[in-house]
Amino acid sequence: MDLPQSIATIGGQLDRDETIVAAPELLSGADVFAAERQRLFLRPWVAVDHHSRLEAPGRYVRVEAATRSILLVRDGEGGLRALRNVCIHAGYPVCEAEEGPAERLICPYHGWEFAADGRLMEPDLSSRIDPARLRLASHPVAIRDGLIFVDPSNAPSAETSDPPITAGVVPSWLKNGKVTSRPRCSVDWNWKLALQFIRSSPHLFCDDPDEDDVVVFGPLSMMFAQPGRATLLRVIPKSAARTDIQLIYMAANDTSHNDGSDQLANGLRKVADAEAGAGLVALDRSFFSWYWPLMSAG
Ligand code: FES
Repeated sequence: MDLPQSIATIGGQLDRDETIVAAPELLSGADVFAAERQRLFLRPWVAVDHHSRLEAPGRYVRVEAATRSILLVRDGEGGLRALRNVCIHAGYPVCEAEEGPAERLICPYHGWEFAADGRLMEPDLSSRIDPARLRLASHPVAIRDGLIFVDPSNAPSAETSDPPITAGVVPSWLKNGKVTSRPRCSVDWNWKLALQFIRSSPHLFCDDPDEDDVVVFGPLSMMFAQPGRATLLRVIPKSAARTDIQLIYMAANDTSHNDGSDQLANGLRKVADAEAGAGLVALDRSFFSWYWPLMSAG
């Protein structure tokens, strides 16, 4: 897919050291969103949650990585899998709950049943169809420093063997930490504005933030980490005009940090809306210096 014109012009403006004038389509165009999905959202790896949510065997949690719905499944033997939450029968989501038991994943639409490793168990179609096709698609998944990473790309696994940390240091306590709350809010913004808002508002996510507190994992996930507590932030693009922001608060012990998910999400949405209304959030040259190499790379 060729780059839409509103993206392609950014490279020249950066080269010429000009003030960057972003075309309106950059924040609203369906073709821009499609190009970003292909070139940026689906890059490996995305930090999606903390491993303590899947300590118990035989459980799943539903997460979103890029624009994909994924079931993280801990099977009865302790193995971890990331299954596409798309039924092989007619393409509906297999699980709509945020978490649940995983001995059998039962699609609510026509009742097809899948094992925790994604194999179709009922109905038994193995005499008519290659069994290799009778399973939910899966993605590479890994746990690093206590966080669960998913690779939503379909790149060969040899290229995606280890979740990278692009900047910062993950504190050692995080491996044994706990999730204390997971507020989430939706904003009627393009994802680029949501990301810019988060980057420019660290005070909303931790006390007395310092640039050393920031850990960056990839384009759409980052963490603010301080002694004994941390906040994983996830930007989840839903469409060109709507974005979810998820915060995952974690602490060295599970009583010390942030309760009241609904209040946090509402507070965040109000601040975001107020800043958008006052024109306080805008894409600047440093944003485009980050964005352009990712979009022009392939
Ligand atoms: S779509 Fe899942 S059983 Fe039909």
